[in-house]
Amino acid sequence: MRYTLTAALPYTNGPIHIGHLAGVYIPADIFARFLRAKGDDVLLVCGSDEHGVPITIRAQKEGLTPQQVVDKYHHIILESFQEFGISFDIYHRTSDPLHHKTAQLFFEELHKKDAFLLQNSEQFFDAENNQFLADRYITGTCPKCQNPNAYGDQCEKCGSTLAPDELINPKSALNGKDLVKKTTKHWFLPLNKYQERLEKWILTDHKNWKINVYGQCKSWLKSPDGLLPRAVTRDLNWGVKVPLPDAENKVLYVWFDAPIGYISATKAWAAQHKKDWELYWKSPDTTLVHFIGKDNIVFHCIVFPAMLMAHGGFILPENVPANEFLNLEGEKISTSRNHAVWLNEYLADFDQKQDELRYVLTSIAPETKDSDFTWSDFQQRINSELVAILGNFVNRVVVLTHKFFDGKIPSNAELANTSPENERILRLYHAHFAAANQTIKNIYTNLENYRFREAQNEFMNLSRQGNKLLADTEPWKLIKTNAPAVAAIISYAIELLANIGVAAQPFLPKTAQKIFEQLNYSPTTEQIKSFWDKKELQTLLPQNTSHSINEPKLLFALIDDDAVNIQKEKLANTKILNQPTPTESFLPLKPDITFEDFSKLDIRTATITAAETIPKADKLLKLTVNTGIDVRTIVSGIAKYFSPQEVVGKQVSVLMNLPTRTLKGVDSQGMILMAADASGKLFFVNASALEGSIVS
Ligand code: 2FM
Ligand code: ZN
Repeated sequence: MRYTLTAALPYTNGPIHIGHLAGVYIPADIFARFLRAKGDDVLLVCGSDEHGVPITIRAQKEGLTPQQVVDKYHHIILESFQEFGISFDIYHRTSDPLHHKTAQLFFEELHKKDAFLLQNSEQFFDAENNQFLADRYITGTCPKCQNPNAYGDQCEKCGSTLAPDELINPKSALNGKDLVKKTTKHWFLPLNKYQERLEKWILTDHKNWKINVYGQCKSWLKSPDGLLPRAVTRDLNWGVKVPLPDAENKVLYVWFDAPIGYISATKAWAAQHKKDWELYWKSPDTTLVHFIGKDNIVFHCIVFPAMLMAHGGFILPENVPANEFLNLEGEKISTSRNHAVWLNEYLADFDQKQDELRYVLTSIAPETKDSDFTWSDFQQRINSELVAILGNFVNRVVVLTHKFFDGKIPSNAELANTSPENERILRLYHAHFAAANQTIKNIYTNLENYRFREAQNEFMNLSRQGNKLLADTEPWKLIKTNAPAVAAIISYAIELLANIGVAAQPFLPKTAQKIFEQLNYSPTTEQIKSFWDKKELQTLLPQNTSHSINEPKLLFALIDDDAVNIQKEKLANTKILNQPTPTESFLPLKPDITFEDFSKLDIRTATITAAETIPKADKLLKLTVNTGIDVRTIVSGIAKYFSPQEVVGKQVSVLMNLPTRTLKGVDSQGMILMAADASGKLFFVNASALEGSIVS
């Protein structure tokens, strides 16, 4: 089978975070690795989505050109993908000339086929800057909540989706001045023309799509007005130029050019590998699958397919297994508020723990509804699953092989059914063998059906079953009385381990490699294919007694409390440091609390009497504070902003009644209250009152 798999092209206006990985890139990678392992012809394409207004806004903020912004983030994002083993066959860029050419050809073909409507409309125009403004560049008062800083496409305070015309008193975000309306023309794709074909293709022919995807498509298709024409051009100077003589200063809308990016990426890959790109996009025996997050559903299920239909000659996606969103510690991940775990930062703190994060993110993948990443859950899943189940099984088998068989695989001669003990062991072994084969089938079925979370859980069952077999047969006791039985058990367990290595490849590629290193063995492509074809345990290891395995090495280390407390602290500090300034957007007001809630806070004035840095914690200071009623230690994440010397003697306010938390081995008893000004500068909240005064 031939597969073209696409993973949403990430916007290049910032690094990527765990939500992206969990929702799109790990599922795409698991699926691609699985298909390749079973011998399919797989092309997994992705690349940077380098156009669109947010990139121009980021460029303005950073004092860079849009090209400089995308160059910077393209490399950061690419490095994160490589670090986490996301096995793209090509990671392309939409600023590449090949993409510009491909998108323009696509547009020209539609234009030749008379597929567009040309329409004039009145749009807001910034006379001083002589340009039409994208919705994001228009600010005004939200008609729903009166937030004076709403954008032309959205109010970030109340979350409403807006159109620029709805804003009260709209102004240019470039200079704060009034706007005028001016006529401009744009090319529209009349989606209504494809309504019937899309309805049949999705609602009748693809009832098997995930319920969240099918449901969203249905609500678009069945909306009272049906599908409406969509503008595919914009008045902007950053993007793919509209390839028509009467379209000066116009570019293709980013959502028109981005999905064509999948095709450009395929062309670039085909040129590098001397392949025919058209086979991967036009041959009816190619299966096309789009991996995306839920916010991209309409573009991949309705708009892009309509574009492909309008063009003709292309295949349509067979499936679009979109995921819902991943939250972080109970809150929406937010790039603008910096409430996120960025992959580059994760790796700086958890060196070489890529598979640990892959594992946790797949375990909680938002496949059917939004899910939540918490640092405590991260710690718990690594410690009680990866370490205690998989790591433990691998270690026990390797250690026992060394201990009893000098590191050589014992011969797998059948155990003779000559005693009640052997009979019992054989019974356990047969039951185990049947269960393991069933588990492999379950892994396969779940993978085939895009249920990666359950597939990984079944994968872990192989080690759970292996641990149980060892616990039930206790080879460490049996060795004194029944060496042939131990040889049979270990020779089986070590084969199981090699099979676990093969099954691990789609989920935990680095771990699979480590398992094979311990076994001093690498499976052949045929062996891997046969494992997935037959969906049952294979004889993989060399069948001669001279094969020695390597010394045991722990696959995973326990995550200690310090490590997760630091991450929790980092998020708490980010909240303080990233309070939006009056010139930026505002955080929505938190829901009301009762006076009783407030009075639970015990806040007192205090003086810092000593301060020191903490080894290996460049963000933390250990502070000794006199609170009037006691002298206590508080660890505060302010080391980047204050030296120990300058804080000694400062009067501060302390939240006294927080439970003690241990950070980098230091017990922290409370929290120092801080304020951040518009530039992000930090101040101690100082009540100018005697130590021990109660703030209420
Ligand atoms: O939502 C996003 O991050 C978009 N850049 C995804 C684009 S997917 C595709 F069409 F290229
Ligand atoms: Zn609002």
